[in-house]
Amino acid sequence: MLRTYKGIAPNLSEGVYIDESAILVGDITIGKDSSVWPLVAARGDVNYIKIGARTNIQDGSVLHLTRKSSTNPEGYPLIIGDDVTVGHKVMLHGCKLGNRILVGMGAIVMDNVTVEDDIIIGGGALVPPNKTLESGYLYVGSPVKQARPLTEQERTFLKISAQNYVELKDEYLQEG
Ligand SMILES: CC(C)(COP(=O)(O)OP(=O)(O)OC[C@H]1O[C@@H](n2cnc3c(N)ncnc32)[C@H](O)[C@@H]1OP(=O)(O)O)[C@@H](O)C(=O)NCCC(=O)NCCS
Repeated sequence: MLRTYKGIAPNLSEGVYIDESAILVGDITIGKDSSVWPLVAARGDVNYIKIGARTNIQDGSVLHLTRKSSTNPEGYPLIIGDDVTVGHKVMLHGCKLGNRILVGMGAIVMDNVTVEDDIIIGGGALVPPNKTLESGYLYVGSPVKQARPLTEQERTFLKISAQNYVELKDEYLQEG
């Protein structure tokens, strides 16, 4: 379900799949071949959401942002890069994610967090406000801690995971 808010409707690139039970409101831009799965709620009302290409937002995830204010003139939009896998029931709020990231199931990423490229965030992790997660590492726990560098296999898996979801959404698009 795509809903307009204050005259702005979600803007979807070619090949994007949105499950019919997902709700997307307002200023949301989604890049080529990305996918949004059942029961995702994404609200681009008091700021914007930008999602890159070949990124998947899995079932039950919640995406929101923080409004502009006198002390925080830009607020915190939600920006997600390319080839990102956002697992089931993840909460992303006003944060910035780079490229080739896996956000494990049930993780919570809070305002003004920067997640650099090539990172895995373990299932159930909590990333508190204003943190920067450094490229190339696995992070787990609540609050999250840097666990170890990613292996080559894991780095490769980040791209495979995104590609698997591109292929899966193509099958869903064919189902109609
Ligand atoms: C973190 C993760 C990548 C596994 O990393 P790993 O290094 O292979 O983990 P291991 O199984 O070797 O476990 C290492 C230790 O970390 C712990 N651990 C594993 N996953 C953890 C997590 N998510 N949070 C906290 N601790 C975790 C293990 O219990 C183990 O602890 P121990 O040494 O005290 O026994 C994986 O558990 C995970 O969370 N993957 C996310 C998957 C996902 O959500 N995908 C999206 C949906 S498709």
